[in-house]
Amino acid sequence: MAESTKPATVAVHAGRPDRGPDQPLNVPITMASTYGAGGDVEYGRYGNPTWAAFEEALGALEGGRCLSFSSGMGAITTVLDLVGHDGLVVAPQHSYTGTLLQLADLELRGRVRTKLVDITDTAAVVAACDDAALVWFESPTNPALELADIAAIAAAAHEAGARVVVDNTFATPVLQQPLALGADIVLHSATKYIAGHSDALMGAVVTADDELYGVLKGRRDLLGTTPGTLEAYLALRGLRTLPLRVERAQANATELARRLAGHPALSEVRYPGFGAIVSIVLAGGAAPADLVTDRTRLWLHATSLGGVESTLERRRRWNAEPATIPEGLVRLSVGIEDVDDLWADLEQALESLIG
Ligand SMILES: Cc1ncc(COP(=O)(O)O)c(C=O)c1O
Repeated sequence: MAESTKPATVAVHAGRPDRGPDQPLNVPITMASTYGAGGDVEYGRYGNPTWAAFEEALGALEGGRCLSFSSGMGAITTVLDLVGHDGLVVAPQHSYTGTLLQLADLELRGRVRTKLVDITDTAAVVAACDDAALVWFESPTNPALELADIAAIAAAAHEAGARVVVDNTFATPVLQQPLALGADIVLHSATKYIAGHSDALMGAVVTADDELYGVLKGRRDLLGTTPGTLEAYLALRGLRTLPLRVERAQANATELARRLAGHPALSEVRYPGFGAIVSIVLAGGAAPADLVTDRTRLWLHATSLGGVESTLERRRRWNAEPATIPEGLVRLSVGIEDVDDLWADLEQALESLIG
């Protein structure tokens, strides 16, 4: 690729086949469970040219070497597997529910210890890092949208000898590059913004540390948390437009957060100032929140986030969502549609509550 570090250029050009007459511009979908003996890959669980193209592109955007996974949870499970027996994991109390469930399960089985923290309280998180093996971040958190001081906490974690992982699913490398802030590993549910079209499950990790890359690849190879080839192709195709989609969705989210502020049906509008997720809290709790998700016509009532289409969901409908998340919190994943159409639909649903 011609030398550019600009995300819009990198996203379009990284991970393409060599140039030449009749060379395809896009990497083919390579369906292979095995390869001729004697090469670098050998077997389908150890590597695939379609994964490699995706990994080259996402690695270039995050500033490290990437490994692709079957899903965000596949990546999370593999990274948590690095923690030794009884090691301490410090994580945000409002992490993604799958991460919280996985940590709780590992703790219940005596594999690791966990300390859940308020990620906005830097001094408390730094204190909690003391004997940690792994310090886990989401910033912004899902769905509370809290922000952490990643650089300060990463420095303290390293002083304590801990590894630092940032789940960068919400911000994407377009808006935040955690490796540059001191993280050892960046992790993605590529299912969300990176693939971007709600049609593929994929995960990824990126690290700038060659030794750690080798350890992670070794764990992936043995755990078998590897992606399908079609999924890797779709995720790379989605990644080509990531900067464009994030820019548009963020502009829509900023405008919607502005229009939603002070609406009489709401007790709170949470928007961290960047990204395309807005969380609104219905003043009357769960019942009006469920009515809003029922009454929108353009916004789709669905879990997940980060697609081109706008979706919304009351998060406490999941039992695993912490009780500190308000019952009436509806997470909006703002898509790339026309912002006035999105507003009109949301407004009619909110207005229907106050008659
Ligand atoms: C922040 C975050 N991390 C990880 C995951 C898990 O990813 P996946 O669903 O691709 O396994 C999710 C899923 O919603 C998420 O929101």
